[in-house]
Amino acid sequence: MNLRDIHTPVLLERCIELLAPALSRDGAVLVDATLGMGGHSEAFLHRFPGIHLIGLDRDQDALRIAGERLAPFGDRVTLVHTVYDGIVEAVNSAGFEKADAVLFDLGVSSLQLDVADRGFAYSQDAPLDMRMDQTTGPTAADVLATYSEGQLRAIFERYGEEKLSARYARFIIAARREAPIERSGRLVEILVAATPAAAQRAGHPAKRVFQALRIEVNAELAAVERAIPAALDVLPVGGRIVVLSYQSLEDRIVKRALSAATASTAPSGLPVELPEHAPRFRLLVKGAELADEEERARNPRATPVRLRAAERVRDAA
Ligand SMILES: C[S@@+](CC[C@H](N)C(=O)[O-])C[C@H]1O[C@@H](n2cnc3c(N)ncnc32)[C@H](O)[C@@H]1O
Repeated sequence: MNLRDIHTPVLLERCIELLAPALSRDGAVLVDATLGMGGHSEAFLHRFPGIHLIGLDRDQDALRIAGERLAPFGDRVTLVHTVYDGIVEAVNSAGFEKADAVLFDLGVSSLQLDVADRGFAYSQDAPLDMRMDQTTGPTAADVLATYSEGQLRAIFERYGEEKLSARYARFIIAARREAPIERSGRLVEILVAATPAAAQRAGHPAKRVFQALRIEVNAELAAVERAIPAALDVLPVGGRIVVLSYQSLEDRIVKRALSAATASTAPSGLPVELPEHAPRFRLLVKGAELADEEERARNPRATPVRLRAAERVRDAA
C-alpha cells in the first residue's frame, strides 16, 4: 500500500503558508492533533528542518502507520495516543510547555474509511464498529442495539441533520427485534428499504445516518468543543492554529471558539478599550476558506473542507 496514493493531505500548501511564521525558529514545536497517516506531518518535517513534531491520534493503527512513515525523522517526532482534548498533557509529556503551532485536520482518515474493515463506510460491508479508538467504548452496533427509538431519532437529527430521522429510527427498532444489526451491509439494507423512492434521489440514504453514528460513537463534537480552547491555551504569543473541518457541525464549533478568542472582552459602553480587554487572538483568514476547484477536482476529500486559522497576539493574563 502506498500511503501517498490513498491520502493526499488537504490544503497542504495553505496550512504550511499559514503556520510558517510560527515555525521559523530552530526548536519550534508543531502539534499535529490529528496525525492520521502523517501526510501533513511529513510535509512539515521536510519543509521546516528545525521543528519538533508532536503527533496525536486516538487511533492506534494510525499511530503505527504514521510512526513508520515518520521514522526517518528520528527524535524530531513524538507520537501520543490520546483524544485531542488531551493536547496540553501531551505537549507537557513530550517535555514542552508551549507549542508554536497546532494543526487540526478533523474527521475520519482515508485509512479508516477506505482501507480498514471498521464499519465507517456505507459502501463496504463490515462489522459496525466505527470506533476511532478500538481499545475503548461502545461500537456503532452497541448503539443500534441499546438506544431507544427516541435516542436514535435524536442523534440522526442532531448529528446527521437527517430529515427522515423518525422513520429510520422506527425501521431500525423493528429490524433489531428480528436480529441484532451488526454489519454495515444490513444497516444499509434497512435504510434503503425505509427510504421513499422520491427521497432516494437526494444522495445515498445511509450517508447521514452513518455520519451521525460515527459522531455519537466517538463523541466527536464534545471532543472538538474541548480541544480548540485547550489548543489555544497552549500557544505562546505569535503561535498559530489552523483547523480543517469537513462538516457544518464541527465548523460551527470551531468558528465559535475562534470568534470568542478574537473578540474584545470590554464591556459595551466603555469609551476606551483597556489592554486587559483586548482580544488574545487575531483571525488569519476571513470567514472559512475553501479548497479551490483545481484541488477539489484532484482530491475529492477536499470538497467539503472549511479552513479557519488564528494567531495569538497577547498573553492570557
Ligand atoms: C482526516 S484524518 C488526518 C489525516 C492527516 N492530516 C494526514 O495527512 O494523514 C483525522 C485523524 O484524526 C483522528 N481523530 C479524530 N478525532 C480525534 C480525536 N478526538 N482525538 C484524537 N484523534 C482524533 C482520526 O483517528 C484520524 O486518524
